[in-house]
Amino acid sequence: MSSNRDGFSSTFGVLAATLGSAVGLGNIWKFPYLTGSNGGAGFLLVYLLATLLVGLPVMIAEIAIGRAARGDAVSAFERLRPGRGWGMIGVMGLLAALLIMAFYSEVAGWVFAYVAKAAAGGLLSSDPKLLSDAFGALVADPVSALMWQWVVLALVGGILSFGVSRGIEAVTKRLMPILFLLLVLICVRGLTLPGASAGLAFLFSPDFSKITPAVVLVAVGLAFFKLSIGMGTMVTYGSYFRADQNIPMTATRVMLADLTVSMLAGIAIFPAVFAFGFKPEAGPSLVFITIPAVFAGMPGGAFFMVAFFVLTAFAALGAMLSIVEVPVAVIAERFGLKRWQAALISVGVIGAVGSLAALSGSLTADWKLFGLNPFDLFDFVSSNLLLPAGGILIALFVGHSWGRGAWLRELSNDGALANQALAGALFVLVRWVSPVLIALVMLKGLGAF
Ligand code: PHE
Repeated sequence: MSSNRDGFSSTFGVLAATLGSAVGLGNIWKFPYLTGSNGGAGFLLVYLLATLLVGLPVMIAEIAIGRAARGDAVSAFERLRPGRGWGMIGVMGLLAALLIMAFYSEVAGWVFAYVAKAAAGGLLSSDPKLLSDAFGALVADPVSALMWQWVVLALVGGILSFGVSRGIEAVTKRLMPILFLLLVLICVRGLTLPGASAGLAFLFSPDFSKITPAVVLVAVGLAFFKLSIGMGTMVTYGSYFRADQNIPMTATRVMLADLTVSMLAGIAIFPAVFAFGFKPEAGPSLVFITIPAVFAGMPGGAFFMVAFFVLTAFAALGAMLSIVEVPVAVIAERFGLKRWQAALISVGVIGAVGSLAALSGSLTADWKLFGLNPFDLFDFVSSNLLLPAGGILIALFVGHSWGRGAWLRELSNDGALANQALAGALFVLVRWVSPVLIALVMLKGLGAF
């Protein structure tokens, strides 16, 4: 194995960076808004099942593939099983990375804009109309939409140029614990608001009539998006894992921590949504109109609101670094370019395509395909089509091409770990259960039968 490859420098660094990839706008923005617009507790339940039954096994598979091959998202598959076309999984992953970044960088841009707004002392209100107008104005202004997106992309490109261990690790590992504490604080505040219990009921007592096949597909898509799987991010990060890292254990910890952050975000937001009379199905604006209201009547609220958006910005950054790392690694390794050159190319292409998403509240609002504007289209195609399809192919690759022997060897660190039974059970899951389940959900969710 090439020993001069840049990698994560410590076991804790691996955990922190992998968690930094998983935790992001998916937890703070997407999870609450999808749970809100898909009926609450029932959706949450399906999401949990999807995370356990398909998310975790696919995540373990990706990391194992990456570490065994020590290659980027395309070459890892080619290295393990040459000449069979499996590299196409990575190519699909590149497309998913592009589409996800196209809208993700815009949402991150909104977060940055909110840091500025909050710091300037605006937003401290619990009036639904005022808050949704403030958000609406930001989204509808093409100049600020583009400007914030480009600020975000410049930052991501800059950090990636510094390389894996110095750039990614340094940024992510310091900030996650603070975000966690701040979320706990917001939860406490939300739960003590009058009328908070309606929010808890929404989040925890399921109404199964809301669970349609299309909703199940959204939940599976969210499970993939949350764990950063289905597009080679975890293959790429797996390639930086240390040889003595316990892969199933690390993946399980990341999954649990990620889930905890999502649940905290849900508990921070829904009690407040109901207490202030907002609409849970508000869509992408949900977090941006609810959080300021929570802080509005709170001692030190102005300070905490700035802190919240700053930390959310960093969480988004950690996730974006891992998304853009996929094309950067492929471009740099394949074409022998320097990392900064690969980062510049990646960010440039993302900015060009992403502009369409950034302008979805203004100039491109009527550019619709299947009834979706560019922002919604990129989100739907990546989360609900490309990631699950990538998951199917990764599972098939492991189960039917890479094989059981290689799988057991990789998961046990060449026999050093006594986890044969666990790894064997996971193999059955990955070989049969995950691909069939994902395929059924996709076909049914898209109305194929
Ligand atoms: N998991 C990240 C989040 O929740 C998003 C992500 C998706 C990152 C796919 C990498 C790959 O914000």
